[in-house]
Amino acid sequence: MPGPPADPSQTVEATRDTSLWWKSAVVYQIYPRSFADANGDGVGDLAGIIERLDHVRALGADTIWISPIYRSPMADAGYDISDYCDVDPVFGSLADADRLIGEAHARGLRVLLDFVPNHTSDQHPWFIESRSSRDNPKRDWYIWRDQPNDWRAALGAGSAWTWDEATGQYYLHLFLPQQPDLNWRNPEVVQAMHGVLRFWLDRGVDGFRIDVAHCTGKDPTFADHPRCLAGEPLADFNDDPYSHEVLRGIRKLVDSYPGDRVLVGEVNIRSTATVVQYYGAGDELHMSFNFPPLDAPWDPVVFRTCIREVDALLQPAQAWPTWVLSNHDNERHRTRYGGSMRRARAAAVMLLTLRGTPFIFQGEELGLEDVVVEPGQRVDPGGRDGPRGPIPWDFAPPHGWRAARTWLPFPPEAATLSVQSQWSQPSSMLHLYRTLIETRRASPALRLGSWEELPSPPEVLAYRRRHGDDDRVVCINFAERPLPIDLEGDWRVAIDSLPEGPDRRFDGMLQPEQAVLLEPLHRPRPQPQQQRQPLQP
Ligand code: GLC
Repeated sequence: MPGPPADPSQTVEATRDTSLWWKSAVVYQIYPRSFADANGDGVGDLAGIIERLDHVRALGADTIWISPIYRSPMADAGYDISDYCDVDPVFGSLADADRLIGEAHARGLRVLLDFVPNHTSDQHPWFIESRSSRDNPKRDWYIWRDQPNDWRAALGAGSAWTWDEATGQYYLHLFLPQQPDLNWRNPEVVQAMHGVLRFWLDRGVDGFRIDVAHCTGKDPTFADHPRCLAGEPLADFNDDPYSHEVLRGIRKLVDSYPGDRVLVGEVNIRSTATVVQYYGAGDELHMSFNFPPLDAPWDPVVFRTCIREVDALLQPAQAWPTWVLSNHDNERHRTRYGGSMRRARAAAVMLLTLRGTPFIFQGEELGLEDVVVEPGQRVDPGGRDGPRGPIPWDFAPPHGWRAARTWLPFPPEAATLSVQSQWSQPSSMLHLYRTLIETRRASPALRLGSWEELPSPPEVLAYRRRHGDDDRVVCINFAERPLPIDLEGDWRVAIDSLPEGPDRRFDGMLQPEQAVLLEPLHRPRPQPQQQRQPLQP
């Protein structure tokens, strides 16, 4: 098995702490059903991912996170797992997973898998045993009660308790009834799930994205919720101390492996103050997703508040931030911003210049919007099909997919937004992302530097990033009219969200919904021979 790749940051400039590779990482989320299809059945697969890894490399991302690939009845698109140590046939085989890990490493890409600790599928042999009788040895691997309480499940599933006729008790599920919750207070469950982590760590993965990392511990008293929370899914606010113990155990295990494996958690709670707790004392998550920007409309007040809060709360806790605008559960951000490509381009400048590790959801580098799904075509019980449309690779239908019909329709403008079309247009969204990532990688200030907000008109967000003598400024105009900004010093536009082109002295005016990355005017510029040619897949 090839080992983890060389630290990509080494190739530009050594960071002070090269072991913390994930601080300098740019992570690309692959949703395997929709990325690329090698076997022509209209659903993406692992062999398809391998075929398209060079796209990720050409974009400049250095880490991939792959949503679940395990055996699953697919009640929740693979987040209902019936065998954690095998690949679902729709995606391929274990041999394909090994090949994918090896091919990614050979290209300098690290691999994070999705780990789903909170629940299994109701078809998992553990649950089949557990529900077979009250005295089955695995009964206590899940959470059984004589009486339900008022806890609610997510995905519109109603009560979090489902009655099991055969054994006359209710079982708990924070998501669908097909996703029974594991009982992590049972040491055998802990041992079995640690075995799952070892299985994949031994195969060479570089870490995990932990699904609903805040949900494994439940209030042991099973008290009803206060009235104000009645009707809210428990998964949106569950915060029992036992989840921290679970995470400490996982962290210890992961740290016992060589190669700085990493844990990034989905703590799907809209309170940054609570999310920070899941970094522990450096002994829980390495990073946690920060959810407010995933809901945020195109609004300077919302972004300013959220960015200030992350800075104020995470910095003192030495908790490394993450930034994410889109994923497989939420409306794509271009759609959320009213379909505006101009706003999506400005947001890309923000995402890739904030202090913290950026996560890119497949297709946002193309400026894709949500798929329009007719009522009869709906697949997801939670109504989240929109962001999950297939990636259009080629201009001509079927856009590089090998089937006449894909499992979901393509997003709007699939031909013009295809990878093929955008590679040939220097002003495309794809090239904007590529240039931003390349610039970030070459700049210690953007990767690891300090963050300081600069005075600006209320509809402009401006900040400075510094590391040693590397100095950058970013200005984002959220308004639909031009606005001036008064900056100290002389600056050159290094990257412009508008296609009119960078490389000019900054005159202090921001066009409507424009974002610029600035560098000092008198900074020595790279000689032409030092400039790397973009890598084409
Ligand atoms: C996470 C996943 C989501 C899934 C849920 C239950 O929120 O991102 O897709 O439905 O967990 O596993």
